[in-house]
Amino acid sequence: MTSEGLVVRNVKAAIEGKIVLRGVNLVVKPGEIHALMGPNGSGKSSLAYVIMGHPKYEILEGSIIVDGEDIASLPPEERAKKGVFLAFQTPPETMVKTRNLLIHISKIRGVPFSRALEAMKRVGLQQDLLDRYLNKGFSGGEMKRSEIVQLYLSSPKYPILDEPDSGMDIEGLLAIGSLVKELKQKGSGILVITHVARLFRDFSPDYVHVMIDGRIVLTGGHEIVKLVDEKGYEYIKTNYAPKEDTG
Ligand SMILES: Nc1ncnc2c1ncn2[C@@H]1O[C@H](COP(=O)(O)OP(=O)(O)OP(=O)(O)O)[C@@H](O)[C@H]1O
Ligand SMILES: [Mg+2]
Repeated sequence: MTSEGLVVRNVKAAIEGKIVLRGVNLVVKPGEIHALMGPNGSGKSSLAYVIMGHPKYEILEGSIIVDGEDIASLPPEERAKKGVFLAFQTPPETMVKTRNLLIHISKIRGVPFSRALEAMKRVGLQQDLLDRYLNKGFSGGEMKRSEIVQLYLSSPKYPILDEPDSGMDIEGLLAIGSLVKELKQKGSGILVITHVARLFRDFSPDYVHVMIDGRIVLTGGHEIVKLVDEKGYEYIKTNYAPKEDTG
């Protein structure tokens, strides 16, 4: 089906009156890995939140389309049902027992709970976390790992991973890499936000985008990762970003 994909079309968005996305275009097709890079504060997480439907963000213009259907007015849980999933850069503390959330996800996805235990083992998470409130008092790496467990269990069509590598040790990075490759093989279209070229030793993105000041100013293949690594974002900003940036 040609309408398959996650499409962000000319999206302008604001949070608390501040414009953070200034016309973003992005198409993620099933089976593709897209990397989104860009300096701190350029709007990467904002894009992830806008796609997922964070209520604080206001879409001023444009549309978000999943498999041909505009989801921009749907609440996050409805977007989740369409296959959109966000692994948070900074996972929020919750009042939900980890076990209950994982049971809930496995029921929705129709997979046995044993898969959650398997996933925890795979990412190196202690099972005593099951009986704690999700993310409450979790270490940075434990929070990121628990996002990966949810991702593994959900196996969504359009996962967005917001800096999954931050605070992760080598084993954690390897676990992310193998999961991303597996999801791609299963036909997911994946958006990975990262600063770290290291992550791409474990899997190779099909497309790499650089966001500056709320716009994707550069898109290419793996060579962009090298360009970012060698020249930095200032170079890309000077050479590729539009000069007037008041919009
Ligand atoms: N609640 C808010 N009120 C005002 N501004 C906000 C709010 N939330 C985010 N912003 C601003 O939006 C801009 C984009 O933030 P965003 O988190 O999307 O950046 P990012 O590209 O993900 O950065 P990083 O690499 O540091 O994660 C930043 O300038 C940030 O301060
Ligand atoms: Mg961010």
